[in-house]
Amino acid sequence: MRAYNFSAGPAVLPEEVLKEAAAELVDYKGTGMSIMEMSHRGKDYSAVHDECIANIKELLNIPAGYSVLFMTGGASTQFPLIPMNLLGKDQTADYTNSGAWAKKAIEAAKMLGNVNIAADCGKEIPTRVPRLDELKLTDGAAYLHITSNETISGAQWKEFPKHDCLIADMSSDILSRPLNVADFGLIYAGAQKNLGPAGITLVIIKDELAEKCPETVPTIFRYKTHIDENSLYNTVPTFPVYMLCLVTRWLKAKGGLEGMQKINVEKAAKLYDAIDSSGFYKGTAVPEFRSDMNVTWRLPTEELEELFIKEASKQNLKTLKGHRSVGGIRASIYNAFPSEGIDALIAFMKEFEAKNG
Ligand SMILES: Cc1ncc(COP(=O)(O)O)c(C=O)c1O
Repeated sequence: MRAYNFSAGPAVLPEEVLKEAAAELVDYKGTGMSIMEMSHRGKDYSAVHDECIANIKELLNIPAGYSVLFMTGGASTQFPLIPMNLLGKDQTADYTNSGAWAKKAIEAAKMLGNVNIAADCGKEIPTRVPRLDELKLTDGAAYLHITSNETISGAQWKEFPKHDCLIADMSSDILSRPLNVADFGLIYAGAQKNLGPAGITLVIIKDELAEKCPETVPTIFRYKTHIDENSLYNTVPTFPVYMLCLVTRWLKAKGGLEGMQKINVEKAAKLYDAIDSSGFYKGTAVPEFRSDMNVTWRLPTEELEELFIKEASKQNLKTLKGHRSVGGIRASIYNAFPSEGIDALIAFMKEFEAKNG
C-alpha cells in the first residue's frame, strides 16, 4: 500500500509516474539498457532531455529569449551563483526576508556583494511574506530576490512585485500554478518537491542576463555556459531529468498548470478549513499568505503534537512533523499529493480532537 506521504522534500511523486519508470527501468524502449546507463549525448537520452525542456516551456508558456536549464548542487548552489553571475561590483541586490530559505539566499549573497534587505518579516509569527507596499527598493538594483514559497513556515507570495529583474526561488511551488515568466529574470527550483527526484535544479533564465557575468567567474559556474551547451556542458543527472520528463507529461495530462492550480487550491482550502473550524488546531501563517503547498499548524502543547504525529503515522499518514527548527505540524501537499490523502488527514484530525481536545 502507498503511504500518504506529507514529506516536504524529497516528496511524493505521482504513482503513475513511478510505475511507468519502473516498467522502463531495466530495458528502456527495447534498447536493452536503462535510460540511466546511456550516454547523455546519445539519441535516446537526447530525446528525453529535449522533450522535458519543451514540456516545461509549454506548461509555463515561456516566451522566446528564455532558456530552461538543468543544473546541479540544489537550490542552495543557486544562492551564490546568482550574485556571482548577476551582481556587479558597484551594484546592490535587493532581497526580501520571508523566513529560513530567504535568509540562506541572503547570507550567500552578502558574502559576494552589496545586499539591501527590501523587507524583513522573517522572524514574525504568525508567519508571512512581505506585502508589496512595504518593499523598500534600491534604485538601479541588479535584481530583487524573493522566495515564492517558504517551505518551513508555510507562507507564499500570492502576487509578485514588479521589477526589471525579479528573481525567485520557487523550490517548493514551481509548476503548482500558472506564472507569467516574462515578469521574471530568473526562476530556480530544486527538483525534489514538485518536479521529481533530488539531483537537479531547474533554472529558467532570461538569456540576456547571462551576458552580465564577470570574466573571473569559472566556466562551470556561468549561466551562459549552460545556456550555450543546452545543459550538457558536463554530464547532466540523466535519470532525474527523465523522471522530470515523465512528471511534465503527467502535468500536461492533468490539464496543465491551470488544472493543477485548481486542484491545489481545493486541497489546501479543505485542510485550512479543517484547521480554522476546530478551535483546537491553530494555523501558523497569516491567512492571506497561507501556502497551498506546505500547510503548517500547531496543537495546544508539544506533547499533543508528538502524539498527533505518532498516531497519524499508525493510520498511514506519514511525515507530518514540522521542520526541526520550528516544530509543530506540516503537511506538504505538492502536486502529486492525492486529494484522498487530504480527506484521510481531516478525518484523522477530527478523531484526534474528539479524543484529546
Ligand atoms: C524554498 C527552498 N529553497 C531552497 C531549498 C534548498 O534546496 P536544496 O536542498 O535543493 O539545496 C529548499 C529545500 O527545502 C527550499 O524549500
